[in-house]
Amino acid sequence: MLTRKKSQPIFDRAMKVISKGVSSNFRYWGPEETPVLARGKGAKVWDADGNEFIDYRLGWGPIILGHADERVNQAVHEAIELGTTFAATTELEVEVAERIVAMVPGMEMLRFTNTGTEATMHALRVARGYTNREKFIKFEGQYHGMHDYVLFSTASSATTAMGSRRSPIPVQQGSGIPNKIRDYVIPLPFNDFEAVERAVKDQYGDIAAMMIEPCLGNIAGLEPLPGYLEHLRKLCDDYGIVMIFDEVKTGFRLANGGAREAYNVIPDLSTYAKSLGNGYPVAAFGGKRKIMDVVGSGVSHGGTYSANGLSMAAAKAVLDILTESPVLDDLAKRGQRLKSGMGEILNDADIPHQMTGHPNMQGFLITKKTIKDFRDLMTYHDGNLYRTILGNLYETGVWAEDDAREPWFLCEAHTDAIIDETLNRFEDAVKAAIK
Ligand SMILES: Cc1ncc(COP(=O)(O)O)c(C=O)c1O
Repeated sequence: MLTRKKSQPIFDRAMKVISKGVSSNFRYWGPEETPVLARGKGAKVWDADGNEFIDYRLGWGPIILGHADERVNQAVHEAIELGTTFAATTELEVEVAERIVAMVPGMEMLRFTNTGTEATMHALRVARGYTNREKFIKFEGQYHGMHDYVLFSTASSATTAMGSRRSPIPVQQGSGIPNKIRDYVIPLPFNDFEAVERAVKDQYGDIAAMMIEPCLGNIAGLEPLPGYLEHLRKLCDDYGIVMIFDEVKTGFRLANGGAREAYNVIPDLSTYAKSLGNGYPVAAFGGKRKIMDVVGSGVSHGGTYSANGLSMAAAKAVLDILTESPVLDDLAKRGQRLKSGMGEILNDADIPHQMTGHPNMQGFLITKKTIKDFRDLMTYHDGNLYRTILGNLYETGVWAEDDAREPWFLCEAHTDAIIDETLNRFEDAVKAAIK
């Protein structure tokens, strides 16, 4: 057992002054289990007791280069000396926008904000303002942040309340979300060609947007079936629906141009956050000029900290690094080695499984049947065995989420040696789980 001699007293204090001792519900593991972190460097983190972990959580995605990356920190240090918040445009902000437009295929205009939640909230409003329609399609198990409209049928909603695949019921993620909002949300199973076509044909006059995680960053990184994103693109084109890719997890991670480049489908709008800042808070939403033109022309967007100097300096440094060398392509090669290696170990242990996701944001599921959406995962995946393996791995100092819905994230600092070490420890963790 890893020691908690220092972590526990800190967490006991946290429980007194912070609700559940955490600043995001997803971080809470229990009163005597929740980790307390002290620092991170490269692909590693250390908890308050000094326990060292190879980190595959990476803050749930934002760390694309490595923790405390010196190049990014240096840029931030320089920028904060100049002041950070002016309620005015800066040249740095323009430079970051120009870089994004250059890197992301089909991106014409954007606005900055601070979190993924804000980015998806604004993108949805822009789509509504542009189409003068109010409903939107979202896919079950997809997570788009913490604003009310998108907190239906997420990976944390009860599948038992979701009704049949043919007529899905929108399910709030929890209390406090007005029931009437469900009238605006059309939840559908992902990767189901027919379900989405039926919904669009029935209700297109009311549907402003389709909000899509192009691969499921909150469901083990599951990827779209061949032709599925193209099918969605065609439906959106045919029925005047704004296609929004939520690239908060995939942007500047799968490829420099994000999922739209990786899957070669260009949405009308997309949202970015996480990897854009390598851990600093920065987000953006944008896409086609004709749609983004409604912003400021009757459609609201604002934010005191939007495009603040700290965020912009971090983003510029990240984008420069990604442009100057093939960071993400190289990462995908190491990620593929990890994925294949874990697959072989699971094969050798006779554990039926499905390797999932893009190498830079991957996962695996313990299942005899092929899983293609959230309902399948909740039905077929053996979460207990997964938790045992990942629990064993954590004890050896390799940390990925013990819930398969959250993918394994990789960063530039995951070297070949770190991948090898992970595979050794993974083999031990699997053997211990089935012995
Ligand atoms: C796909 C997706 N969209 C939006 C969000 C919300 O981003 P944030 O936590 O920055 O508000 C997340 C967070 O994990 C996400 O995975």
